[in-house]
Amino acid sequence: MLTIGIDKISFYTANFYLDLKTLAQRNDIDHNKYYKGIGQEKMSIPAHDEDIVTMAANAASRIVDDGNRDKISSILFATETGIDQSKAAGIYVHKLLGVNANCRVVELKQACYSATAAIHMACALVAQDPNKQVLVLASDVARYDLDTPAEATQGSGAVAMLIAKDPKLVSIDSKVGNYTEDVMDFWRPNYRKTALVDGKFSTEMYLKAVEKCWVNFCAANPLRFVDFAKFCYHLPFSRMGEKAHLHLLELNQQSSAQLGEQFDESTIYNRQIGNSYSASLYIALASLLDNCPQDLSAKNIGLFSYGSGCVAEFFAVTVMPNYRQHLLTKEHQQMLDNRKLINFDEYINLLDHPDPQHGEQCIIPQSGSTGKFRLSEICDHKRGYTGS
Ligand code: CAA
Repeated sequence: MLTIGIDKISFYTANFYLDLKTLAQRNDIDHNKYYKGIGQEKMSIPAHDEDIVTMAANAASRIVDDGNRDKISSILFATETGIDQSKAAGIYVHKLLGVNANCRVVELKQACYSATAAIHMACALVAQDPNKQVLVLASDVARYDLDTPAEATQGSGAVAMLIAKDPKLVSIDSKVGNYTEDVMDFWRPNYRKTALVDGKFSTEMYLKAVEKCWVNFCAANPLRFVDFAKFCYHLPFSRMGEKAHLHLLELNQQSSAQLGEQFDESTIYNRQIGNSYSASLYIALASLLDNCPQDLSAKNIGLFSYGSGCVAEFFAVTVMPNYRQHLLTKEHQQMLDNRKLINFDEYINLLDHPDPQHGEQCIIPQSGSTGKFRLSEICDHKRGYTGS
């Protein structure tokens, strides 16, 4: 039987970050509300010359090379921070990375869920033609209005994954559990730069969706709770995943004492970068694989994907032998360590940057981004990227 899954994974985040202690000081509250209460310490804030394209290209540049450029049959780009109503952001990445011209490129949207749809579509495409590979990109900038409870849950990041046969990292099980319901818990109308959110309701919907997906998963898949060694969740903030896992433990009559061991390593990166919407679940997976001291070979990991609105999915992956030899742990850690701390005024300055509205020539100065690729201009309504 053909085994298909994630062959390589790499993530990238913006170079600037705000420590949530700075925000707590500004709001005159105890920083432990953020550090402990929501489980977040820092949020990555993009420079003026960083966007979903540059972050995705920077993530993908570590896993796309001369060995696979010609094998990539499709690029599926998941985002809810689209830069164009028509053109797929992945086309810019396709060019920046020099991927072959016989490759299809599309963009997918359903809040934070769409990368999961992309992963399963990618598996189906590889099953059709096992000699090809599919590049799945998820890239987002999480923005909420200032002075709202959601402000502390901003962030940004991108993940790139190569989906292939005989994967080196994890195989993906096709028997999944889904849940969809039309709700208004979080949304962003086209005319808004920041999301609208019914915060408490969104957390309730998230927990409801975990339960519904789990029940649906158990109807489709013989795996049971005890067959999983670890769990990764979409992490709008780390405490949300913790609450979801406690809920799943309770549903399965399991002791809450297992929480830390089954969940904590998946949150290490998210605590440092904040919400990255569609990329968040897969950055959690990278965090677990990179940071778990235990050898996870042959272990099952449960993944829960939630996109407000809402669409959710629970599915299983199985870790491949020797996976550790193929991780980018050192690169991920170095990138996080090398980011630049900003103060409150610099944070406001970065967020206040107006989007060009009239397509007049706008040269974007290098503004502290350190990746290989940057947004260099918007001219005649066209975005221009540079890098190599
Ligand atoms: N020390 C330790 N803990 C403290 C504390 C302190 N000094 N002060 C407060 N806390 C705790 C509170 O007790 C609370 O804990 P519990 O959840 O265990 O009760 C926690 O900190 C949070 O405090 P509040 O409930 O007062 O938080 P809030 O109302 O200010 O904001 C939020 C929380 C509603 C989630 C808000 O951050 C928000 O709207 N975020 C955006 C929406 C979101 O992320 N929703 C998640 C589900 S939707 C989704 O997943 C899609 C997506 O990506 C958006």
